[in-house]
Amino acid sequence: MLKINLKISAIFLVVLYVIMVGFFYNFYQHLVIKDAKQEVVNILNTTKTIRNYVENIQKPVIYNLEKEGKLYKDFFDPRILSSTYIVKTIHQMYSDSLKMEHHIPYKYKLAATNPRNPQNRADKFEKKILEKFRKNKIKEFSTILKEKGKNYFFVAVPTERNKPSCMRCHSTPDVAPKELIKRYGDKAGFYEKVGDLRAIISLKVPISHIVSSHIKDFLITIFIALVVFIIFFIFLYIIYKKNLKLQARKDLLLLNQNKLASMGEMIGNIAHQWKQPLAQLSFILVNIELNSSRGKLTESKLKEKISEANAQIAFMSNTIDDFRNFFSSGKPQEEYAIKDVVILTEQLLSATLEKNKIELSIDIKNNFYLVGYPNEIVQAFVNIINNAKDALLEREIQNPQILIKTFVKNSNKIVTIQDNAEGINIEPIDKIFEPYFTTKFSNSGTGIGLYMTKMIVEKNNAGKISVKNLHTGALFTIIF
Ligand SMILES: Nc1ncnc2c1ncn2[C@@H]1O[C@H](COP(=O)(O)OP(=O)(O)OP(=O)(O)O)[C@@H](O)[C@H]1O
Ligand SMILES: [Mg+2]
Repeated sequence: MLKINLKISAIFLVVLYVIMVGFFYNFYQHLVIKDAKQEVVNILNTTKTIRNYVENIQKPVIYNLEKEGKLYKDFFDPRILSSTYIVKTIHQMYSDSLKMEHHIPYKYKLAATNPRNPQNRADKFEKKILEKFRKNKIKEFSTILKEKGKNYFFVAVPTERNKPSCMRCHSTPDVAPKELIKRYGDKAGFYEKVGDLRAIISLKVPISHIVSSHIKDFLITIFIALVVFIIFFIFLYIIYKKNLKLQARKDLLLLNQNKLASMGEMIGNIAHQWKQPLAQLSFILVNIELNSSRGKLTESKLKEKISEANAQIAFMSNTIDDFRNFFSSGKPQEEYAIKDVVILTEQLLSATLEKNKIELSIDIKNNFYLVGYPNEIVQAFVNIINNAKDALLEREIQNPQILIKTFVKNSNKIVTIQDNAEGINIEPIDKIFEPYFTTKFSNSGTGIGLYMTKMIVEKNNAGKISVKNLHTGALFTIIF
């Protein structure tokens, strides 16, 4: 039978669930970062392409117009001549449209060490990356950043290196268009060389936003997991309840089996107790018959014999009464004296014990009262004493003895049963209380005696049973 510990299962499921939630959280975060990275790389590539377009196609057209005199020489308008400006504006527009469609908003920056527009100045971190790109140490850069307590996903790619066409605006101020100088001054963004790497394009995407954009998927997943876990737990609970029922039925069966065994024991005892009076009765009858055949049966003699017979019958009837209690079951709880229970136990077993020359001593130091099922307690004592008897006989102990003590200690009501059968060599000793544990050969022991005893004492009669070895033998202690 599948044994289930409901509490441990519940704790296990909760821990598993928490681990799963953590796992899914990580999973979605990774998934989203992966998506974001792809998206960011696409944006960066588009950016590069636009810059290329401006440098390689748009600018030559405008310079040509100037050359042909269709445009004046000092014309400068960043809207068509600054790739940085153009890209930035396109980005702003794109980012705004993304935001409107509830996509992930991102932060675009062109980071340069010698920027024309101070907004584009590279910070320490960006400068470091730019240096690495300049020295061709890396081709692409991405990482997770923490800024003002918030996590960002950061990607950087280099811009195109300076071309001759860039030199008009980025070499010396004297060749630059006057309108450009007027707009930005003659300091920033000059003295660049062809082949130099001016800047990196960086994109920063806040991760918390990323996760929240996938939060719905995440919530649905953990909700489904929760439902699965709950169903699983209900399933376990049903099995657990079924097990409990089965266990209860099994225990009842064992109880009855054990009772039957005890009943067999008692019938043996009754038979033993009755042998003597039956023999007496038969003797009385023979005597009456003899006297009658000899014509010596006077009325007074007959009366005498009848009263003798009645005395024997009364004794037999009393014996039956003593035992009868034990057979009745389903009685309500009652108050009883421990002494009565011990005496009844003794009566039940005296015949067998006498036959085997086992001395049973009883020491009632305190006769306390208990509320419960006295018959069951008798059954428990019988089981313990029978085991002691078995051990004493099996080990052929000289002077075999069993001692029952009852006393009160620290307001605990205690019964001890000890023997001198040299003890129980089972490790751990509590194993003897397990069902079907026996060291006796098949037929002579089923191994349910002490299991039943423990059930009777602990489940039905609010007691506690324990066992230990003394150097002479086993000591069972029952505390009520
Ligand atoms: N007083 C004792 N001295 C030595 N061993 C004992 C004593 N009491 C119990 N045992 C050991 O504990 C085992 C379990 O006892 P239990 O009464 O449960 O089963 P059993 O006597 O073997 O079988 P059953 O009582 O069902 O006929 C015994 O087989 C025996 O080995
Ligand atoms: Mg037994």
